[in-house]
Amino acid sequence: FLDWLAEQRAHGPVHFDDRQRVWQVLGHPEAGAVLSDPGVFSSDLTGLMPAQDDFALFQRGNIVRMDPPRHRQLRALVSQAFTPRMVAGLEPRIVQVTTELLDAADGDGRLDLIDSLAYPLPVIVIAELLGIPAADRPIFRRWADVLFDQTDVDPSAPVLEAGRETMARVAPTIREMNGYLLDHIRAHRSAPGDDLTGRLLTAEVDGVRLDDQEIIGFVGVLLIAGHITTTATLGNTVLSLDEHPGVAAELRADPGLLPGAIEESLRFRTPFPRLARRATTATRIGETAVPAGAVLQLWITAANRDGRVFADPGRFDIHRSPNPHLSFGHGIHFCLGAPLARLEARLALRILLDRYRDITVAAPAEERNPFVMMSVNRLPLEVRR
Ligand code: HEM
Repeated sequence: FLDWLAEQRAHGPVHFDDRQRVWQVLGHPEAGAVLSDPGVFSSDLTGLMPAQDDFALFQRGNIVRMDPPRHRQLRALVSQAFTPRMVAGLEPRIVQVTTELLDAADGDGRLDLIDSLAYPLPVIVIAELLGIPAADRPIFRRWADVLFDQTDVDPSAPVLEAGRETMARVAPTIREMNGYLLDHIRAHRSAPGDDLTGRLLTAEVDGVRLDDQEIIGFVGVLLIAGHITTTATLGNTVLSLDEHPGVAAELRADPGLLPGAIEESLRFRTPFPRLARRATTATRIGETAVPAGAVLQLWITAANRDGRVFADPGRFDIHRSPNPHLSFGHGIHFCLGAPLARLEARLALRILLDRYRDITVAAPAEERNPFVMMSVNRLPLEVRR
């Protein structure tokens, strides 16, 4: 994957790719410029694909694919419900869940990090926030696997055609999610609780409230994007620490270094490798002219390794400062869940390092398709208390 990105980068930081039939954006300043200008570079790609009913419905509340002014309105609404104070208040619960999960898993000194902790922790936290039964997490995992494990992604195939095939393949899953979440929202309307869904039902901006379908789209994004990315980050960080044993010792001695280590892990093993945008008018990105209607793939993994911005980018360095990685995006769509993801990662890693004086990867990690998601499905560990 990194070799493929390097090959692409050799054609320039922005160029048209004949095989994928899209514009590839690989440089850091160039990707940052695209993300900073939502007036020119739209996130709404729905016009490019024939709308299917379930998708069209789901997209109505999908904030990731919205442009201003609607985006600003929805973001203001959900920011009322999803405040930094609420996230900070989750700390004791995150500690408790992490400890319980490890207690249940590490009896014989062996555990699979993903099954035992990195998957269940974020999904329990987000499900509890939304007031959705955390016990249904096998269902959410199946959805996330279908939506993100596109093992058939072929980097040499035209992107739009591949996208259409993927949409057809995941349509039944989207339909199932819509149905599940609609039941969830109806139940909340008849008995609204003090959880995120309850607050989304009553939040108001400019006299406007969200309708059921918009809440479904938003809750769906939170439920899926809000957990597998954090799962990826935990697994990726433990992998990097295994490759750099000195760093684990450093973090045990000074847990104040953990936030820097997590940011470096996000840069070094970028969970979401690519974002997409569409140029609404003819424009320039850096030196390169792109036509109106151009579809752009922003390779965040490549931007995060741009030697013009990061010295020695192939080195895992937890002291990198500043570390302007783009793993949470940039601009108006900057990840709404970043404070939660950072908190979960910091607490879980701190507990792992405190609890075990030795953590070793016991078998090769099972990697997902890095073109879709930089993450592992299995990470067997041997641990010593
Ligand atoms: C947006 C990555 C965790 C909710 C984004 C974007 C990225 C991203 C790259 C920008 C998408 C774009 O510009 O097209 C990540 C990573 C995470 C993570 C790497 C974990 C390490 C979370 C969590 C939640 C969440 C825990 C929720 C609980 C969202 C939402 C948006 C978003 C709602 C859309 C914001 C908007 O469009 O205004 N995320 N995310 N994410 N993320 Fe995250």
